[in-house]
Amino acid sequence: MLEVKNLTKVYDDGTVALRDLSFEVQDGEFLIIIGLSGAGKSTLLRCINRLIEPTEGQIIWNGIDVTAASSEQLRKIRRHIGMIFQHFNLVKRSSVLTNVLAGRLGYVSPWGSLIHHFPPEANQLAMRALERLGIADQAHKRADELSGGQQQRVGVARALMQDPHMILADEPVASLDPVLAHSLLGHLERLNQEDGITILCTLHYLDLIQRYASRVIGLRDGELVYRGSREDIRSMTDEEFKEIYGEEAERVSAGLTDGGI
Ligand SMILES: Nc1ncnc2c1ncn2[C@@H]1O[C@H](COP(=O)(O)OP(=O)(O)O)[C@@H](O)[C@H]1O
Ligand SMILES: [Mg+2]
Repeated sequence: MLEVKNLTKVYDDGTVALRDLSFEVQDGEFLIIIGLSGAGKSTLLRCINRLIEPTEGQIIWNGIDVTAASSEQLRKIRRHIGMIFQHFNLVKRSSVLTNVLAGRLGYVSPWGSLIHHFPPEANQLAMRALERLGIADQAHKRADELSGGQQQRVGVARALMQDPHMILADEPVASLDPVLAHSLLGHLERLNQEDGITILCTLHYLDLIQRYASRVIGLRDGELVYRGSREDIRSMTDEEFKEIYGEEAERVSAGLTDGGI
């Protein structure tokens, strides 16, 4: 279980990105975080694994206080938290396989990671991760030769190499077209359901939120303004969504010429 307690983040320039946020995420949830640009979604995801240092409050994960963890403890915690980004964050000039192996860096000795020497079983794990994502045949291509949808699947395979118990996905489909967005979220859903990986994901298309969320929280100006169950979000009207979200609902299916998926 993840517990976020009274989390506040004030950036050095005085911007209050998160204000006294508290919520819990049970293991195995597919939590979708909604909110307009600037609401604090990325800050929240990055505070959870302390890529950004919280100003106040606590992050407790499976009873361990992440906010109080030493750098050594933090390294161990981060091994089990995968991250996926909007712009994939791959090393473009490296091969797909090398990018996936990079997900394993937390596991090899500092020496090993320095010289990029991975044990043979790491290669097998990487190939298996690529197979699960349906792109094993791309393993030896340069990352930037792949399409956007394929690159994001490499990002997921890289996260899988950590044997994650939780995946933080920050706008993972914002750079993808509707069909690819569904495909990518389908992969995340399978990891959620088959492996029990907890997913925290920011998304802003209402149809995708309704299709994939097991629960939704809404942020506005760094405050938690909405908590909804799967049923709440499925039965939500456009008017209600607008009230919570602050803008008209957008749908990926609107981007499809045949009018829906
Ligand atoms: N490094 C930073 N320094 C100062 N302000 C920042 C920084 N990063 C984000 N912010 C501000 O914090 C607020 C929340 O940003 P962010 O977490 O990126 O929101 P979202 O991901 O929902 O768009 C915004 O007002 C943003 O401008
Ligand atoms: Mg963001």
